[in-house]
Amino acid sequence: MPYAPSLNWAPLGGPEEAQIVAAHGARMKRYADFLSIPSVSAEPNHAADCRTAAEWLAGELRRIGAQRVEVSETGGHPIVVGERIEDPTLPTIVVYGHYDVQPGDPLDLWKTSPFEPIVRDGRMLGRGSADDKGQIVIHLAALEALLSTRGRLPVNVKYLFEGEEESSSVNLERWMASHPDRCSGDAVIISDTGFFEGNLPALTVGLRGITYLQVDVRNSDVDLHSGGFGGSVINPANALAAMIASLHDEQRRITVPGFYDDVVQLTPADRAAFAALPFDESAYLAAIGAGAPQGEDGYSTVERRGGRPTLDVNGIWGGFTGDGSKTIIPAHAHAKISCRLVMAQDPARIALQVEAALKAAAPRGLQVEVRNLGNGYPFLTPLGDPYLQAAANALKETFGADPLYLREGGSIPIAALFQRELSLPVVLLGFTPPDDNAHAPNESMDLGNLEGGIRTFVRFLEGYAANPASGSGSRTDAAG
Ligand code: BES
Ligand code: ZN
Repeated sequence: MPYAPSLNWAPLGGPEEAQIVAAHGARMKRYADFLSIPSVSAEPNHAADCRTAAEWLAGELRRIGAQRVEVSETGGHPIVVGERIEDPTLPTIVVYGHYDVQPGDPLDLWKTSPFEPIVRDGRMLGRGSADDKGQIVIHLAALEALLSTRGRLPVNVKYLFEGEEESSSVNLERWMASHPDRCSGDAVIISDTGFFEGNLPALTVGLRGITYLQVDVRNSDVDLHSGGFGGSVINPANALAAMIASLHDEQRRITVPGFYDDVVQLTPADRAAFAALPFDESAYLAAIGAGAPQGEDGYSTVERRGGRPTLDVNGIWGGFTGDGSKTIIPAHAHAKISCRLVMAQDPARIALQVEAALKAAAPRGLQVEVRNLGNGYPFLTPLGDPYLQAAANALKETFGADPLYLREGGSIPIAALFQRELSLPVVLLGFTPPDDNAHAPNESMDLGNLEGGIRTFVRFLEGYAANPASGSGSRTDAAG
């Protein structure tokens, strides 16, 4: 598929624009350096790389002029923090991004090597180019543009760059509770989302929550001869398949008792907003090589993606999977299952319900173990939020169009933590193109989105400084 068209963006004017232009070459080199560090949070053998990425990021923050920069321990991969407190009476924005990335595999499907970044067709290619290192580069560039031209920011900014987002942010909640001053402020900007299909500027106002489970089932001590035992003992692989199949009905609704109890149903207005999105279903399917959409009966594709909960197998294995044939009854079988959740489902509660349903569906005698590998709450922010309006203004000034408002299907656990635990307004201001291949081979970032993102964030800070309460007043002319 050809890439979505690159966007035009409006330069800032003034010394910041000149600085951003002059720094382009150095920025691209640093971006590539950052992408070369394989900071895969899920793989234990990349723990040292995660630390290297964290140190690299801390070095960048120090070089640019952030204060109190620290690589802070979490028990897992560290969190990088830093700040510019210009004046304690000014409002404070907390900026979040994550430096960890998904694994590079399957390597044979990449056209280039995932950790050897390269620019091609106006895109940076490489694992993490979009999700989420490119978005961190946007924030570093905006900080550098303002500090190196004016020596100060229009508001206070705190940076919080996480290293475990791609593995469910398991240590984050505890870390936040023990570092309150690193998380406090007036509003939070999370740059880990992107634009709509067709590369249309957008603000994400909803995210799904998640609960992630591993199911292990076992019957015998070792694999058995399927001639001697087939048909006379439980086959754990057959049993696991049947248990999983029982979790959906014919309409592809989830049958887990209690699963929908807390779901906030889509209102007619919600459904009208989904229907109004300029969504091209055939292009969406063609881009991934899929033939037909599928999901819960009664809902459109965009509703299924952003407004309804799911239960999906992420991986399933057991028994003989090598070349040729081997006649066995496997001793054990396994699956990784995740549920994407909507308001106001509680991930820990859903995990227990799914565990109970799996156990109830298991044949008597099969050993079933279910482990919860991570949880995140769903997120929704009101459309009238003034900080959201400030972000919309900045996007409009930069890209020349009012942004779309999206409820997305992905999850960012910290979004709901800031909202629920700290009662802070959270704005998901992210810039990746919709065809970025995040989590897939050939991930890429459109460099027009990156450049426009830098200008948008500078405009957001200025607009916010001009009028933090209403979100209006952002600058359209040259810098002063
Ligand atoms: N950038 C994504 C989140 C995202 C994806 C937002 C699509 C909007 C649309 C983020 O880095 C991510 O992938 N999060 C994980 C979180 C999980 C491991 C808890 C996800 O959604 O799978
Ligand atoms: Zn991701």
